[in-house]
Amino acid sequence: MPYFHKKITGKRLLKMREDFCGTGQISCEWAKKSKEHLAVGLDICEETLEYARTVNQASLAPDAQKRVRFLNQNVLKPTREKFDAIGAHNFSFFIFHEREQLLEYARAAYASLVKGGTFFLELAGGPGFVKAESEATEVKVPGYGKVKYVWEQHQYDPLRAINDYSIHFQLPDGTWMNDVFTYHWRLWGVRDVREVLKEVGFKRSVVLWQLDDDQGEGTSEYRRLEEADDCETWLAYVVGVKE
Ligand SMILES: C[S@@+](CC[C@H](N)C(=O)[O-])C[C@H]1O[C@@H](n2cnc3c(N)ncnc32)[C@H](O)[C@@H]1O
Repeated sequence: MPYFHKKITGKRLLKMREDFCGTGQISCEWAKKSKEHLAVGLDICEETLEYARTVNQASLAPDAQKRVRFLNQNVLKPTREKFDAIGAHNFSFFIFHEREQLLEYARAAYASLVKGGTFFLELAGGPGFVKAESEATEVKVPGYGKVKYVWEQHQYDPLRAINDYSIHFQLPDGTWMNDVFTYHWRLWGVRDVREVLKEVGFKRSVVLWQLDDDQGEGTSEYRRLEEADDCETWLAYVVGVKE
């Protein structure tokens, strides 16, 4: 975010809002960067926010702790405070299934940004993101053992552009934990999102497209593009610019 915010607007990004923040890891990492970096995380689940405050925020150095706040607030409502940038990561805005809801969210974000502010929305898509399949990964949890993490993609509904996803775990003793997290998402396209942003006043938007390595695996690098090659699964950010 900071690199592209600077590239797009020419300004330094210091005050950031993390929408759908969950346990607020991005906000906490942000506050570590310098004494000028401030973050506010928004979520509507008090239990998750409590974890963000008591575990993640509490593990920061005292001065960094003061630069983060977590608010129990719906992202559909503008914040009184204005931000240099707002981020909606991990496709969380896919919970909005109707265009009207996405418009409402984009309007609220627009109102919560300073002039020259940016609104980053992360999207995923492609045939690989709608194929009904599961993928298991083993994760080593220090002091606990190997946990199997399973990402399951259910049957896609092409008429409503809706798909369900689940995360299951298998613990080191073999216990299976089914549907620990479930997602019921509308799969928004890049173009739809850009049109919604334009409609609420973002005069300009740019697309940041994730680059693959030689083996076709996604990297942490993104490039600003206006046209892209088709690919099995893609990740991208649409960035609205408030001018
Ligand atoms: C999939 S989690 C993502 C958490 C975090 N971004 C992450 O990647 O770890 C989605 C979060 O969005 C929150 N949420 C759902 N609807 C919301 C809304 N309208 N306003 C604010 N938060 C919301 C949920 O409580 C949940 O914590």
